[in-house]
Amino acid sequence: MRPFDLSERLRDRLAARLTSIDRDGLRRTPRPPVGIDLSSNDYLGLAQHPLLKQRMAEAVLADGVGSTGSRLLRGEREAFQRVEQRFAGFKGAERSLYFSSGYLANLAVLTAFPEEGDVIFSDERNHASLIDGARLSRARRVIFPHISSRHDMGALAKLLREEDGPGQKFVVVESLFSMDGDEAPLPEYAALCRETGAALIVDEAHAVGIYGATGSGLIEARGVADDVFVSINTAGKAMGVSGAFVTGPADAIELLVQRARPFIFSTAPPPAVAAALDASLDVIAAEPERRVRLLERSRYLRARLGMPEGSQIVPVIVGDNQRAARVAAEIQAAGFDVRAIRPPTVPEGTARLRVSVNCELSEETLDRFAAVLEQALRV
Ligand SMILES: Cc1ncc(COP(=O)(O)O)c(C=O)c1O
Repeated sequence: MRPFDLSERLRDRLAARLTSIDRDGLRRTPRPPVGIDLSSNDYLGLAQHPLLKQRMAEAVLADGVGSTGSRLLRGEREAFQRVEQRFAGFKGAERSLYFSSGYLANLAVLTAFPEEGDVIFSDERNHASLIDGARLSRARRVIFPHISSRHDMGALAKLLREEDGPGQKFVVVESLFSMDGDEAPLPEYAALCRETGAALIVDEAHAVGIYGATGSGLIEARGVADDVFVSINTAGKAMGVSGAFVTGPADAIELLVQRARPFIFSTAPPPAVAAALDASLDVIAAEPERRVRLLERSRYLRARLGMPEGSQIVPVIVGDNQRAARVAAEIQAAGFDVRAIRPPTVPEGTARLRVSVNCELSEETLDRFAAVLEQALRV
């Protein structure tokens, strides 16, 4: 086959881009899992749970593989509607809508609700999907300094109070930040949004399935359900499957059905995914010991590494990009699947190992891992 005849200008540009990625130590290569998992988001081990596998397999055999169309055309199934209703109940919300990924759900939320003349206040550490959603929106964007449980709300409070235009204000945060593993102070956000009339949008990607009495997330755990406008709940992390549920007031969700382009102009996920999600909700309800164990093991590893108490996401900051990749390679060679995270995923100069704990890891495995990590960081 004759290769596509690139113009010289375009060929030079591609080569220059790749050279600069290599020069900065930022070349990324997809690599399948090897070794003991300390990097996935399968915090509860549900991606391999027998009930989820069985229910998804049965659904494939009964209903086929593809959905064949958008949910607004022939791709709709009752199984999607049933699991959406159930998920809304799980979150204590009026209604929910399922999207084929968290990325698309965030684009949907930030393009459907904030309109021209509105203002989106977005934490500087928010995930790329929230950043892209805000960029796609017609609203003005204000990026505020990262706030974790250890910091005060001063900068954001000032920005919100000074913003006195007629538009609606939206505040967008992750409840548990994906790369730092730190928690947003949701009660403080709730109070500030109430005071300033802002609508609070919370991405529960790394919290849903884990925190709160029923495992529905940090909104439940911190008692702020009444103060959150909508939440985004990815189903490909602790829930073990894929996609994401947006939950909120019935009219908000209905507007997504009418307006959200990632929902309307995209083929619905395979219907069997709904069966797996239903099973995932069954397991989260029936096996709370998984989330208890996850938090115990996270506490154990953090203590073993001399780190403060915190979530299942344990960032080990290395700094230099190349060094982070070398340290990760050394740990991988010892049989532990840990990945280096480099800019632009994290700020310049903060390349890190993003260690994530899951409930299947024993204390003995975590001891061995900690020893390997400490050794790798010494060189
Ligand atoms: C905070 C956050 N939001 C959204 C997403 C996107 O979710 P998904 O992987 O389902 O597209 C991720 C991770 O990928 C995330 O970490």
